[in-house]
Amino acid sequence: MANQATLILIKPDGLKKSLTGNILTRLSETKLEIVAAKIARASKELAEEHYQHLKDKPFFKEIVRYICGELHNRRKVMALIYWGEDAITKCRQLAGSTNPEEADPTSIRGSYGRITTSGVYENVIHVSANEADAEREIKLWFQPDEVIVNLYPTKEVAGKERKIKTWA
Ligand code: PPS
Repeated sequence: MANQATLILIKPDGLKKSLTGNILTRLSETKLEIVAAKIARASKELAEEHYQHLKDKPFFKEIVRYICGELHNRRKVMALIYWGEDAITKCRQLAGSTNPEEADPTSIRGSYGRITTSGVYENVIHVSANEADAEREIKLWFQPDEVIVNLYPTKEVAGKERKIKTWA
């Protein structure tokens, strides 16, 4: 199996419950390499794009609010890219089933997830489902400069004249 990349998001409930360390420790069991990491804020547009394949589901609005941090008053997620052999399967195995009630109790979602009274899964972590989703999601959440390996082809474009913020 060739090297694969997967997007991991530690969702706002994971951050609110101070689970970042526990989740990263569990994921380190995979022996995969972290090739990008940041704290990020999901805009409504980014969240809707991320979950675009679910836009007809009854829970769509709620999962957008969830990943934006509106349900937990924590408007941030930790976004990481794990890279290495069979990365998607390894990370999904540790994450456990999407439905936290069905997840192996020793998995990340089984240990820390819950279903809200309105039926939304609060499952603390997102892991890309397959290579095509991983590529789409990674390109949404990260720019090439933020990743320390060349995952996908890039192109150079002439920068538009615009101001950037730097340290004063
Ligand atoms: S599908 O079509 O249900 O197989 O979609 P999937 O790719 O598995 O992603 C479903 C995401 O929606 C979140 N979510 C729920 N799914 C199903 N039922 C309910 N009630 C529900 N509530 C939330 C689920 O956690 C998946 O998001 P991620 O970020 O991948 O966990």
